[in-house]
Amino acid sequence: MKKSISTFLKHPTKDNANRSANPSVTRASTILFNTMQELKKHERKIKANKKISYYSYGRYGSSTTIELENIIKNLEQAYHVFLTGTGFGGVALAIMSICRPGDEILVSDNVYGPTKEISQDLIKEFNIKAIFYDPDNFEDLKNKISKKTKMIVVENPGSNTFEFQDLSKIIKIAKKNKILTFLDNTWGTPLYLKPLALGFDMSFTSATKYFSGHSDAMGGSLAVNKKVFSKVMFFYKLSGYRMSADEAYLIIRGLRTLDVRLKQHYENAKIVINFLKKQKKVKEILFPYKPSSKSYKLWKKYYSGANGLFSIVIKSKKKSSVEKFVNSLELFGIGYSWGGFESLALLQDLRDDTKYTKTRQFFRFSKDEHIVRLHIGLEDPKDLIQDLKQSLKHIK
Ligand SMILES: Cc1ncc(COP(=O)(O)O)c(C=O)c1O
Repeated sequence: MKKSISTFLKHPTKDNANRSANPSVTRASTILFNTMQELKKHERKIKANKKISYYSYGRYGSSTTIELENIIKNLEQAYHVFLTGTGFGGVALAIMSICRPGDEILVSDNVYGPTKEISQDLIKEFNIKAIFYDPDNFEDLKNKISKKTKMIVVENPGSNTFEFQDLSKIIKIAKKNKILTFLDNTWGTPLYLKPLALGFDMSFTSATKYFSGHSDAMGGSLAVNKKVFSKVMFFYKLSGYRMSADEAYLIIRGLRTLDVRLKQHYENAKIVINFLKKQKKVKEILFPYKPSSKSYKLWKKYYSGANGLFSIVIKSKKKSSVEKFVNSLELFGIGYSWGGFESLALLQDLRDDTKYTKTRQFFRFSKDEHIVRLHIGLEDPKDLIQDLKQSLKHIK
């Protein structure tokens, strides 16, 4: 029977042996084989990416992580899915698998801070040059392609400033120049955008965010096509990257309600945005909600849904008053990450290097425009609005 994604997510796996509606959690280092021949045969099967229900050694995962791999493989329409212990592990896996000394990589200027840091600082030490392009200007990307360009790293929409790019144009130029492509699709999730179907070689999602959905698990998923499979497998095996069975179980549990949660986050976000757009102190809302805007058009062109993560731009000569606004929110927690059940707020400094943001080369906001990232959780949006209303008063 052909099933919709919502139905698939409710019945992705079960433990038939124990008659449980959920998969079992298999923690294992040693996996036992009956003979040496059986072990060798199984290893050949893994190398050829054949369907398996256990690995040859616990470092590559267990039956629980294979269950999760298979669910994401289905959502991503992928050749294979590599699971990592944190989301960032998946980004590092992609870059370290593909780039070699003498290569150049083109990176969108608005990527997640540590993605920028690995490109700008770490791989430089291996003689790999990262060049950052303006996410709002396709010509800039085009002009920066050289014979040495090995990979284009895109995050859509960008961290904190939420620029949407014309993804097909990037794919087209990359294919023409035989350049590999990577998309950080954590915001859209493979429910709303399928990067591999669009032509990307690698599709990444931080499973810590909406996949898990409950702020209690970390993980990354790097879905790949056949072209890059062996290269990524080579580094994956030697880096020791792996997701634990317990974490995989929690992420499978989260995925069952991904569709329902995302819809509610988006509904709540729309209600809150409707309030925020009428507030004089809020200069701009960085979210695709205005049909006439470039970001809305590009979002509509590629995505079938949205969620609860966006930023607001607050104009104030007194940064301390913006900090006071964030500090006085009662329902919004102050903390990193997003995609959980709860609302969060962060004042993001994109002009200077901080631990999780890096200085932008292309930044259209002035010194007195401050970016506050909000994650709208699953609370009653009426309460969130009350909270924002009382806190906005502090902005001078
Ligand atoms: C867009 C994006 N990509 C990657 C990551 C890294 O994921 P993790 O925190 O699971 O390492 C984050 C985390 O905030 C993120 O926002």
